[in-house]
Amino acid sequence: MQKMKIGGIDIAFERHGEGPPVLFIHGFPLSGRMWEQIVAPLSPRYELIIPDLRGMGASEATPTATMKTYVDDLCELLDKLGISQRVVIVGLSMGGYLAFEFYRERPERIRAMVLADTRADPDTPEKAKERRATAEKVLREGSGVVADAMIDKLFGRKTPEATRKAWQALMSTTKPEGVAAALVAMADRKDSRPMLSTLNLPTLVVVGEEDEITPPAVAREMHQAIAGSRLKIIPDAGHMAPVEQPQRFAQVLREFLDRLPP
Ligand code: MLT
Repeated sequence: MQKMKIGGIDIAFERHGEGPPVLFIHGFPLSGRMWEQIVAPLSPRYELIIPDLRGMGASEATPTATMKTYVDDLCELLDKLGISQRVVIVGLSMGGYLAFEFYRERPERIRAMVLADTRADPDTPEKAKERRATAEKVLREGSGVVADAMIDKLFGRKTPEATRKAWQALMSTTKPEGVAAALVAMADRKDSRPMLSTLNLPTLVVVGEEDEITPPAVAREMHQAIAGSRLKIIPDAGHMAPVEQPQRFAQVLREFLDRLPP
């Protein structure tokens, strides 16, 4: 784990392997650790850049953030690492929302996209209101509020209790300021559905078969709206497909990456 000053704060990241660069963007309120089992199968052929988003994992928090703030952090990180060639973006859930925002802001920097366990539609007004209320509650009572609410929806049926407990603990210890900022940023995020038919880059949509948060039906709709995209459904996985089925997830990813045009 390394740290670098990005946007004036310490952002933590890992960098592994050699080859064409792939940027992994984790979900909420998680950390780059969610990709740790993907490193060994992919790093022999690809350079993996795995940040902790601001306010999550080992990165410093700020009281507020927007989707653009996170993307600006990611671009600055790539710049400071000297990565000027186009990157493949792999974004899971909130990471997928950020992949869309990245495309909105800096499409010329993206070679291909992997949209994992995510959705293109924005929050409904009710959901956005609920997120803002949760943000207030997290600032008062701590991140356990979100960890307890999310834990039962994150994993598929066969995922061991120890894995659930480990991720519940990780979410509970995420900085409340970072969790609250991300909740508000997600509540304010744009509708990415109009973008889907304009995505003119190789795209893989991947989802855990038992994902309750962004179910396969949502992934299928995105796949149908993105011309030329591929869809892969990972069996025996919920919302955390790379944690629950790392070998299958890595294989699907490697097949996609290996076939990308230069
Ligand atoms: C995530 O995993 O990033 C979250 O479930 C996204 C969300 O709350 O919309």
